[in-house]
Amino acid sequence: MQLKFPQGFLWGSATAAHQVEGNNINSDWWQWENSPQRISEIKKQNKNPEDYKSGIACDSYNRYEEDFDIAQSLNMNAQRISIEWARIEPFQGDFDEQQIEHYRKVLNAIKSRNMKTFVTLHHFTNPIWFSEIGGWKEQGNVIIFLRYAQKVLTELHELIDFVCVINEPNVYASNSYMRGYWPPQRTNFVLSQEVQKNMLQAHIKVFELCKISEWKLKVGTAHAFRFIQAKGALKIFEGVLKDFFYRSHLKKIEHFTDFYGVNYYSRMLFSFKAQFPFYEIETENETTDFGWEIFPDGLYEILKEIGLNKIPIFITENGIADSSDAKRKEFVSRHLAAVHKAIEKGINVQGYMYWSLLDNFEWAEGYTMKFGLVEIDRNNNLQRKLRPSAKYYSEVCKNNYLEMY
Ligand code: BGC
Repeated sequence: MQLKFPQGFLWGSATAAHQVEGNNINSDWWQWENSPQRISEIKKQNKNPEDYKSGIACDSYNRYEEDFDIAQSLNMNAQRISIEWARIEPFQGDFDEQQIEHYRKVLNAIKSRNMKTFVTLHHFTNPIWFSEIGGWKEQGNVIIFLRYAQKVLTELHELIDFVCVINEPNVYASNSYMRGYWPPQRTNFVLSQEVQKNMLQAHIKVFELCKISEWKLKVGTAHAFRFIQAKGALKIFEGVLKDFFYRSHLKKIEHFTDFYGVNYYSRMLFSFKAQFPFYEIETENETTDFGWEIFPDGLYEILKEIGLNKIPIFITENGIADSSDAKRKEFVSRHLAAVHKAIEKGINVQGYMYWSLLDNFEWAEGYTMKFGLVEIDRNNNLQRKLRPSAKYYSEVCKNNYLEMY
């Protein structure tokens, strides 16, 4: 049986600058990865600190043509990348024109291969100076981000089809300001809410800027969605949890977005436990190398819920950490079947971007998690090697249908 996708459906993959480009030396992440404190934390866990520094990453800053050749050879017609603020504005108010030209070349390289461009303006990293003046917890700093966005979009808007203004404000706020897991390692719930609020405000301001400027590009999000379910006594909190994780966010931007970007990886199944923090996250199905439960039905449920208001939806990320590539093909096909089912129900999904094209720097997990359709051989000059699942995905991209067995 063939599951056909609508004509013009966008098929692609996604990456982010810090994770693939290499040598992002003016960013707060680079500073953190290389800080004595982080290195000693990693050593204490008996791990090799070198695996947890982004370093040269995939060297995509220099090898982007090669990467987009691969994407093109896999029959993709869209690419999601991010532009690195720390390169564009390495010192406050000082824009580096050479870096703008670099990204002009990058975007041209995608366009000349007949692929649409999705551009994220902020994907977890900040210039060091921005963090030093308080980063996203300061409402007054929103305008500083807006100035950067205005510069980039004024220069490059003609090469951009879709802007995902800020990647996953919910994940950034939680990992950096609530869980203390990412820089600046704060553990303050109130601050994390402030950060999210400021990021949403930045999104709205960029949306308004694009509309006033009458640029043709479409402006949207890339929000992290987990399918939320709760068991037993916690069931009554399901609605509150959904509000917290995504509903309230979507509500705030629904009049300020041309599309919803959905980043979907897994389900969060809460169950009650007797001692603090009174809940745990369970898995009932197979998991990925990351330990995340594989739960494609959750993607269908989310699309059905958020698609009701007819705002176009793109899957801006969906992927699996799977070093052996044993589960990736089935992961992709089951999630695509879920997307197809949502489309059949009238949900306006217009594209799918697999995360990620390449094995890359997986934030606090460093190089240990392998999400790529393409393996990067870190012992052999970062050689790109297609995984079998890449060939499978390329067939789907070419055919615009999914073959179900
Ligand atoms: C992020 C990516 C990350 C991926 C896998 C998403 O939350 O946008 O940067 O690599 O998840 O963890």
